[in-house]
Amino acid sequence: MALAFRLNGEDVLIEHADPSSTLLDWLRDAKGFTGTKEGCNEGDCGACTVMVTDSRGSKALNACILFLPQLNGKSVRTVEGAAGPDGSLHPAQQAMVDHHGSQCGFCTPGFIMSMVTAHTNGATDYDDQLAGNLCRCTGYAPIIRAAEAARDAPVPDWIIRDRPVDPGPQPLMPQSADELAALYAKHPDATLIAGATDVGLWVTKQLRHLPQMIFLDGCVDLKDIEVIDSTVRIDAMADMNALRTAMAPLHPSFAEMLRRFASQQVRAAATVGGNIANGSPIGDTPPALIALDATLHLRKGDNRRELPLKDFFLDYGKQDRGSGEFVEAVSFPRQPDTLKVYKLSKRFDQDISAVLGAFNVTVENGRITTARIAFGGMAAIPKRAANVEAALTGQPWSEATIQAAAAAFDQDFTPMSDMRASAEYRLETARNMLSRYFAEMNGAAVSVLEVKP
Ligand SMILES: Cc1cc2nc3c(=O)[nH]c(=O)nc-3n(C[C@H](O)[C@H](O)[C@H](O)COP(=O)(O)OP(=O)(O)OC[C@H]3O[C@@H](n4cnc5c(N)ncnc54)[C@H](O)[C@@H]3O)c2cc1C
Ligand code: FES
Ligand code: FES
Repeated sequence: MALAFRLNGEDVLIEHADPSSTLLDWLRDAKGFTGTKEGCNEGDCGACTVMVTDSRGSKALNACILFLPQLNGKSVRTVEGAAGPDGSLHPAQQAMVDHHGSQCGFCTPGFIMSMVTAHTNGATDYDDQLAGNLCRCTGYAPIIRAAEAARDAPVPDWIIRDRPVDPGPQPLMPQSADELAALYAKHPDATLIAGATDVGLWVTKQLRHLPQMIFLDGCVDLKDIEVIDSTVRIDAMADMNALRTAMAPLHPSFAEMLRRFASQQVRAAATVGGNIANGSPIGDTPPALIALDATLHLRKGDNRRELPLKDFFLDYGKQDRGSGEFVEAVSFPRQPDTLKVYKLSKRFDQDISAVLGAFNVTVENGRITTARIAFGGMAAIPKRAANVEAALTGQPWSEATIQAAAAAFDQDFTPMSDMRASAEYRLETARNMLSRYFAEMNGAAVSVLEVKP
């Protein structure tokens, strides 16, 4: 496979690229660009952060779980290219020097590239922008001070000049949903690569060989999120940052949960389609989407079908998806916002959920008319709490109803114990989340960020 992209302002052509090679390995081994560090090799530490620019803008991404073909036609900037061609430092680099933001320096290239990207995009929510970069010696205060100090400096010319290049057509890189449909129907055994934040780890950690990969990134018509009349439609290739932005005005609790989905770098790559198609019992978006009564749109060749998202998940590792069939979109009806999404994880940022509860209950004239409640981390699949829902529906909206319905969690779920939580803790947590929902809908402050001593 031949690939073309820009690296630190210069055109690069790789005539015979191994499609399962990561950008990090290629930078360090083939180019000798060892500024980009390898810490965890699984998307957790941010030491390998680079900035990738295409026609939709600039993103900070983890090079360790980015396959080379995902860069085709784009512009990549590594820490070697943060400074200008004449050696003048990027404002973020200068500020890190001025504010003593580096000690051992292992994390520093990754921090710099996250800061360069935030600076390029005018983003100033530095706690979130840098949550995916781990520093174990300097500490965050000087680093955040440096990011703040660089904020008002103009974006340097050499960064402004980053732009996509024309990569030319590639056999396994469809440029539209139609091309993907035709290609996947022909090669149903190929592995689809969306953001690669799951599949990347199959290669870097499980050392799996993927004989054939189809890269979805070029399918620009699969990246939108649209509100059409009474429906919200999310294309499969919409990333988590785009979803967060779209959900903020509609369902702010969903958006707030997405702020805690992995890190800035992972959210910029991870797609909604990948989060659903991987069938994980602890994927964060399926319970929220199920609580919103979402419909999944699947496509094989020219044939499309729809099914309620809740019915897509059949059993652990088993979904209702045929050979050659892919997720095209997920949609849900526009509705008044009664959704709350509670993510419980050991760490606040950048952690996988132990339990995730999504609650959507409507009340009319003091009575519960509908209840849609779905959980991750409580069963082998993302699953509705059907018995709890039944115990709520038609009952008065009261503390007594909530307490009575909470007992039904035992009938809905038999969770397992693992390193994230015990079965008993998970059940207790689910019951508590229902009480939390009742309290929050009645105006109480329930977030750890709002409850003050
Ligand atoms: C550090 C780190 C932190 C993470 N934190 C979280 C977290 O907090 N919450 C969470 O839910 N997940 C988390 N994840 C997991 C991952 O980011 C998500 O599951 C993500 O949504 C996967 O999307 P992707 O586009 O990267 O999928 P990929 O890795 O590209 O693909 C995943 C699977 O879906 C298939 N696939 C992809 N797109 C389609 C499609 N359109 N149709 C059919 N099949 C398709 C692929 O073939 C593959 O089997 C984390 C991952 C990492 C590395
Ligand atoms: S090496 Fe840790 S995120 Fe890439
Ligand atoms: S300076 Fe050592 S890990 Fe950050």
